[in-house]
Amino acid sequence: MTNKIQQISKVLQHKITQEIKQKGAISFANFMKMALYEPGLGYYSAGLKKFGREGDFITAPELGPLFAQTLANFFAAVLSDIKHPVIMELGAGQGTFCYQLLKQLDTVNQLPSAYWILEISADLKKTQQQQIAQLPKHISQKVRWLNQLPDESFEGIIFGNEVLDALPVEVFQIFESGPQRLMLCDKQGELKEQWQPFPEVLLNQLASKSLDLPVGYRSEFIPHLQSWMEGVVQCLRTGVVLWVDYGYGAKQLYHPQRQQGTLVCHQRHQANFNPYQSIGTQDMTSFVDFTHVATVLDGLGFDVCSFTHQSDFLMSLGLTDLINENAKFKDYYQQISEMKQLVLPNEMGEKFKVLAAKKNTTTHIPGFEHNRSYDL
Ligand SMILES: C[S@@+](CC[C@H](N)C(=O)[O-])C[C@H]1O[C@@H](n2cnc3c(N)ncnc32)[C@H](O)[C@@H]1O
Repeated sequence: MTNKIQQISKVLQHKITQEIKQKGAISFANFMKMALYEPGLGYYSAGLKKFGREGDFITAPELGPLFAQTLANFFAAVLSDIKHPVIMELGAGQGTFCYQLLKQLDTVNQLPSAYWILEISADLKKTQQQQIAQLPKHISQKVRWLNQLPDESFEGIIFGNEVLDALPVEVFQIFESGPQRLMLCDKQGELKEQWQPFPEVLLNQLASKSLDLPVGYRSEFIPHLQSWMEGVVQCLRTGVVLWVDYGYGAKQLYHPQRQQGTLVCHQRHQANFNPYQSIGTQDMTSFVDFTHVATVLDGLGFDVCSFTHQSDFLMSLGLTDLINENAKFKDYYQQISEMKQLVLPNEMGEKFKVLAAKKNTTTHIPGFEHNRSYDL
């Protein structure tokens, strides 16, 4: 780690302990929020190289263009049914998905009227703007960055890849007396874990999952997912919400054997389970409860019509048709290796799921020939 990064991490840790001194113990969710998103200091906000081979992790759009090019078939089909379609992408990372998707939609004459990006990190927003500026003007001028959720309603698609797994989580453990919440206090400048009862509102959110877990079981959930999701999707008048992420239905996510939960940190492509080491210099994430996501969208008036593995989704959208068999060996090899990472079960293929929900539209949602139950 360079001195500058160490310095940023120290300042962030100091800020977290100051917060604790002022307010008392903070929840793990608050800690995670600061560690990832504290302006200028958090992992996503401090200008570290995060994505790609020299970063800490790689996402599907960063592997190469195949992911976005395949999803373009989905976007083109849905957008073609709408008069002035808008795409709103949440958490656009380096802007790579937007760049590749719009390039592909341009080739099939299906550019949307506008592409909005809602990004929490000022640093990533700058990177996105640099990448989008490389697109031809008639494409790049479609892209606009929102500082907050839009006031105006629109028709189109709301999309996010690996955003839900990056939302701060509450950590809980089951005690004889019921579930308790992981809190962090300060012990001589070091963070110390302690368990406390949940406030009623969070206890109710956890109870609504109807989990039957043994004493000692520890896991996570996204607090206030209902209000967060409502904020994001309420501006969609007509169209589709598409979430891609690693996760399971609740029965698998909260399986008795997964008794330590799924919270994990990533640094230089190595996973570790210590969120308190070099705070702000490592990613922190947990698997998504897609049953919860589906239930919330259903309660918000959406028809949760489709849920499947990423591999099935991409294959049924025609991923293999995009492989150029006449390409030079090196390019062909790169395409095949990219495809394998996207679809093999031990890579992203089965760990990643795709959930689509539609509102006020009867449009056919392509890519879900192998529809699965999100309740499992
Ligand atoms: C793991 S990265 C994925 C980036 C990109 N979608 C990709 O696939 O490469 C998570 C992204 O979500 C953003 N993010 C996290 N929470 C957010 C929120 N509440 N609103 C908007 N963006 C958010 C992060 O700053 C980052 O851009």
